[in-house]
Formats: sequence, structure tokens, C-alpha cells
Amino acid sequence: MILKRLCIYISLLTTAYASVAFGAMEFIYPSPNAVVTSSGHFIFKLNSTELTSIRITHNGLAGDPVEVGSPEYRKLFQDMFIAQSLWDTGVNKLAVELFNGVQKIESAEMSVYYAPGNNSRKVPPEYLPILMHTEEKERLCLSCHNMNPTPGQMNSSVEKNNPCFICHKKMLAVKYVHGPAGTYSCGYCHASKGSPKHSVPKRGSDLCYECHSDMAVQIKKKKFIHGPVEAGMCESCHDSHGTQNESQLLMATNDLCLSCHEHISKQKHVVTVSGGQGHPLSGKDDPSKKASGRKMSCISCHNPHGSDVRYFFVNNAESRMNLCQMCHNK
Ligand code: HEC
Ligand code: HEC
Ligand code: HEC
Ligand code: HEC
Ligand code: HEC
Ligand code: HEC
Ligand code: HEC
Ligand code: HEC
Repeated sequence: MILKRLCIYISLLTTAYASVAFGAMEFIYPSPNAVVTSSGHFIFKLNSTELTSIRITHNGLAGDPVEVGSPEYRKLFQDMFIAQSLWDTGVNKLAVELFNGVQKIESAEMSVYYAPGNNSRKVPPEYLPILMHTEEKERLCLSCHNMNPTPGQMNSSVEKNNPCFICHKKMLAVKYVHGPAGTYSCGYCHASKGSPKHSVPKRGSDLCYECHSDMAVQIKKKKFIHGPVEAGMCESCHDSHGTQNESQLLMATNDLCLSCHEHISKQKHVVTVSGGQGHPLSGKDDPSKKASGRKMSCISCHNPHGSDVRYFFVNNAESRMNLCQMCHNK
């Protein structure tokens, strides 16, 4: 029924277009020519009560028409259209066609740029960052949503009592959810006030070590600490809320490591085996983790945080030979 309509996934695609002003609708989030760093929602306002259905075309792929004129729809959402988005990395071109019955009243176009993981280096300059939680935009939500929850409500583990969760449940619909996000303790990390609204005052290891103090102690003791860990940049590898990867890693392990150590994929790593390749780094079962059924990856040999030996070998293997022997019997 109606809630299903809320979850229309926009499929996706490319090329930049200037924004245009339209009479029958107004883009709320993202605004035209915005850059977004997460795939959240696509929200606009319908300015005409005559509209009965809309059709969204995303990167050239037309979706099914969505009915917005029924009394049930209007009762719940009035003039709001809220869909979960599935942006393509890079440029997303959107066209919204507005219908009264079979008659097309208007169509509107815009593009947004999706830069996952805040990788802002490559964003073309015509796309600008935006915020949802501004006074101007929140004014449009106030009649149906609690936009200024108390600290208690921001940490309420009861779903329906936590306004943050009601709007952001999509970000927790992943396989590996971080402890405090899973208990909806949004207010532990996000400020109830502050600027921009709901920003996170403490970042990186200053934040993480508040709860992971045992790890802080362990890491301090290590002789060799991995660059980004030493710099307190925990968020360069872990998401604070959750992802599809174990330990809430931002990407699959090897992709993550290679995003900073690209050269490893371009040379033979560890050994040259018969056939001219380097050591297997993925795909094969990891013989040292038989019980967990893990596959080979960079962390089969390297501890991601650090260790007492150079190159952060796992188990503090003191030499190359000790490392090899973990998996290759003498
Ligand atoms: C009415 C729905 C709604 C409520 C309630 C809400 N948010 Fe949001 N918030 C959004 C939307 C929509 C976005 C844009 C991202 C997206 O597409 O989901 C957003 C974006 C954000 C951002 C990114 C910065 C920004 O302003 O764009 C943060 C941080 C955030 N929300 C935190 C919170 C927290 C913490 C709470 C609870 C105190 C909360 N939100 C409550 C809808 C909501
Ligand atoms: C006329 C009432 C109404 C207004 C105004 C309204 N919403 Fe909502 N919104 C709803 C209802 C109803 C739901 C479904 C609530 C639920 O899931 O419990 C909802 C759910 C949402 C969700 C969750 C979607 C999901 O992923 O399941 C987001 C995000 C959201 N609204 C954002 C906004 C924002 C941002 C504004 C202001 C720009 C806004 N809404 C204004 C009625 C409204
Ligand atoms: C362990 C700390 C922590 C907890 C708990 C937490 N967050 Fe966050 N959140 C962060 C950090 C760090 C960021 C990144 C902030 C930034 O980039 O400015 C963030 C960013 C966000 C964003 C913006 C994401 C984006 O990519 O645009 C939203 C939305 C958000 N949080 C919502 C929530 C909600 C809802 C909850 C509760 C269910 C929650 N957070 C719990 C730490 C946390
Ligand atoms: C409010 C307390 C709190 C904060 C702040 C916090 N965490 Fe956590 N974290 C937890 C809890 C609770 C768990 C789940 C405990 C468990 O399962 O062992 C957890 C689990 C994790 C896990 C998964 C552990 C596993 O065994 O799979 C990782 C990774 C993690 N946190 C990283 C971080 C990072 C990175 C930060 C900083 C951005 C952070 N945490 C901030 C409380 C916190
Ligand atoms: C270079 C990427 C990277 C950085 C930076 C990083 N981690 Fe991790 N972290 C990982 C990986 C990969 C795992 C999974 C290890 C495994 O499963 O063997 C992990 C596992 C964890 C775990 C759960 C297992 C454990 O070892 O206790 C916690 C908690 C954690 N990290 C916290 C942090 C904190 C806190 C920081 C910042 C001080 C941080 N991480 C920085 C990559 C990273
Ligand atoms: C955010 C960027 C980043 C990510 C992600 C990252 N590293 Fe690193 N890594 C660094 C930096 C910075 C250094 C220290 C500078 C250097 O020696 O290259 C470093 C150093 C290393 C070293 C020691 C190099 C030496 O010559 O002593 C190893 C081994 C290593 N990383 C492995 C990994 C593995 C395995 C992963 C994935 C779990 C990973 N890195 C993910 C940034 C990163
Ligand atoms: C089978 C064990 C093993 C696996 C798997 C492995 N490494 Fe290594 N790595 C080593 C050894 C051993 C060294 C020490 C230098 C050497 O002897 O070649 C090393 C050195 C490094 C260095 C520092 C030297 C350099 O060339 O910069 C980096 C960075 C590194 N590895 C990253 C990675 C990444 C990224 C992955 C995953 C794609 C990975 N390693 C997978 C064993 C491994
Ligand atoms: C974490 C476990 C692990 C470690 C540590 C490890 N290897 Fe391996 N190694 C493997 C796996 C798995 C294979 C693939 C075996 C297969 O094809 O079935 C492999 C294959 C090889 C091969 C190719 C064998 C063949 O038949 O083609 C060589 C050579 C090799 N490793 C050398 C080394 C050396 C040298 C070291 C130490 C620097 C090392 N390995 C450390 C797991 C490991």
C-alpha cells in the first residue's frame, strides 16, 4: 500500500544539465546541481492538487508511474513526494514528468552528483555541497515530523520514538550495523544543537576511543602503527553506522587497502609464482582462518591497525619466514 510507494527505488545514470524552475513542483532534496555523499532520499514538493501521477526517469531509465492523487496518499504525505534513492556514482540525471490523468502537465529536469565516501577530489566544480537540516528546508517537514527532538528522543531505542531513526532507517538497513547506531544512540555522537545542525563534534579516534578504550591501550603499545590509525583517521576505513562489509568497513577489504596502496595491484606482491603472478591475495581460502571460513585478503598477512613488526604482519610474525609458515607447512 502507501508505504510501499515511499520506497520506490530510483534506478540510475549520467550527464550534466542546468536546473530549471518549475511551476507544478519544487525540488527539496537534493537540490539541483548538488553533490551528495550518501544515497539517501529524493524529496520534492507538488505544488498542484491536480497532479494524479508522476514518472521519474533516472539516467535514461523510466520508472513506473507513481500515483500521488489518491485520498490515501494525500492524507499521509499531502504535497510531499519522498523516495529512497539509489544514486549512480558520478552524475545522475533526473527527469520528473507530472500527469493529470493521461495528460502531461509539466516535466522537470535536474542533475545531482554522487560522490560516495566523501571522495570530493573528482567532483566537477558546478556541483555544490548541500545540507538537509537547514531552517528553510525543515520548515516544510515540521507539520508531520519532529525536527527538534530532545536528547532523550535522539537516543531512544524505541523506533517510533526516535525521529532520527524514522527518517534515516535506510542507512541502518545493512548487514553489519555499528553497536551504538544499532541501538539508535544517535545523540551520543550527533549534537542536538550546533552548526551545521546535527554535526558530530568529536571525530576520529577522539570519538572512537571513548568506547573502544581497550583498543586505545593496545594500539599505544604497538611498535609499528599503521599511518591512518596513528593519525586517528578511523573513519577512513570504518563507517560509524554500518555497511555491507564486516567491521563496517567502507569497502570490501582489498578494495579499501588498494584505495590507498594502488601500487600493490600493479606489481607482483610477496613472490613470483609459477605462471608469473604474485602471491594470491584473494579468492582462495585462508588456511590460517580455517575455522571462520575466511578468504585470503590483505588482512590475512597484515594487521590493519599495526603490530610489533615492520609491515604489521599478523601474529607479530617476526620474519617473512615466520609469516609464510603460518600457512605453508615447513
Ligand atoms: C523529516 C525527516 C528527517 C528527520 C526527522 C531527521 N533527518 Fe537527518 N536528514 C534527512 C534527510 C532527507 C537528509 C538528507 C540525506 C538523505 O537523503 O537521507 C538528512 C541529512 C542528515 C545529515 C547530513 C547533514 C545534512 O543536514 O544534510 C545528518 C548528520 C542528519 N541528517 C542527522 C540527523 C539526526 C541526528 C536526526 C535526529 C536528531 C535527524 N537527522 C532527523 C531527514 C531527516
Ligand atoms: C504531510 C506529512 C509529511 C510531511 C510534510 C513530510 N513527511 Fe516525511 N514522511 C511522512 C510519513 C507519513 C512518513 C512515513 C513514516 C513512517 O515510516 O513511519 C514519512 C517518512 C519520511 C522519511 C523516511 C523514508 C524511508 O526511507 O522510509 C523521510 C526521509 C522523510 N519522511 C523526509 C521528509 C522530509 C525531509 C520532509 C520535509 C522536507 C518531510 N518528510 C515532510 C509524512 C510527511
Ligand atoms: C559512533 C558515532 C555515531 C553514531 C552512534 C551515529 N552517528 Fe551519524 N555520523 C557519525 C559521523 C562521524 C558522521 C560523519 C559526519 C560528517 O561527515 O560530518 C555521521 C554522519 C551521519 C549522517 C550523514 C551521512 C551522510 O553520508 O551524509 C546521517 C544522516 C547520520 N549520521 C545519521 C545518524 C543517525 C540517524 C544515527 C542514529 C540511528 C546516527 N547517525 C548515529 C557518527 C555517528
Ligand atoms: C558510544 C560508544 C561507541 C563509540 C563512540 C564507538 N563505538 Fe564502535 N562499537 C561500540 C559497541 C557497543 C560495539 C559492539 C560491541 C561488540 O560487538 O563487541 C562497537 C563495535 C565496533 C566495531 C565492530 C567490532 C566487531 O567485532 O565487529 C567496529 C569496527 C567499531 N565499533 C569501530 C568504531 C569506530 C571506528 C568508531 C569511531 C568512529 C567507534 N567504533 C565509536 C561502541 C562504540
Ligand atoms: C586502514 C583501515 C583501518 C583503519 C584506519 C582503522 N581500522 Fe579498525 N579495522 C580495519 C579492518 C580491516 C578490521 C577487520 C580486522 C579483522 O577482521 O581481522 C578492523 C577492525 C576493527 C575493530 C574490531 C576488531 C578489533 O580489532 O577489535 C575495531 C573495534 C576497530 N577496527 C576500531 C578502529 C578504530 C577505533 C580505529 C581508529 C583508531 C580504526 N579501527 C582504524 C581497518 C581499519
Ligand atoms: C586511508 C589510506 C590508507 C588505507 C585505506 C590503508 N593504508 Fe596502509 N598505509 C597508509 C599510510 C599513509 C601509510 C604510511 C606511509 C607509507 O609507508 O606508505 C601506510 C602504510 C602501510 C604499510 C607499511 C608500509 C611500509 O613500507 O612500512 C602496510 C603494510 C600497509 N599500509 C598495509 C595496508 C593494508 C593491509 C590496508 C587495508 C587493511 C591498508 N594499508 C589501508 C594509508 C592507508
Ligand atoms: C601472503 C601474505 C601477504 C598478503 C596476502 C598481502 N601482503 Fe602485503 N606484504 C607481505 C610481505 C611479506 C611484505 C613485506 C615486503 C615483501 O617481502 O615483499 C608485504 C609488504 C606490503 C607493503 C609495504 C611494501 C610496499 O610494497 O609498499 C604494503 C603497502 C602491502 N604489503 C600492502 C598489501 C595489500 C594492500 C595487500 C592486499 C591487496 C597485501 N599487502 C596482501 C605479505 C602479504
Ligand atoms: C595467510 C596464509 C598465507 C600466508 C601467510 C602465506 N601464504 Fe602463500 N599461499 C597461501 C594460499 C592460500 C595459496 C594458494 C594455494 C592454492 O593455490 O591452493 C598460497 C600460494 C603460495 C605460492 C604458490 C604455490 C603454488 O603452488 O603455486 C607460493 C610460492 C607462496 N604461497 C609463497 C608464500 C611465501 C613466500 C609466503 C611468506 C612470505 C607466503 N606464501 C605466506 C596462503 C598464504
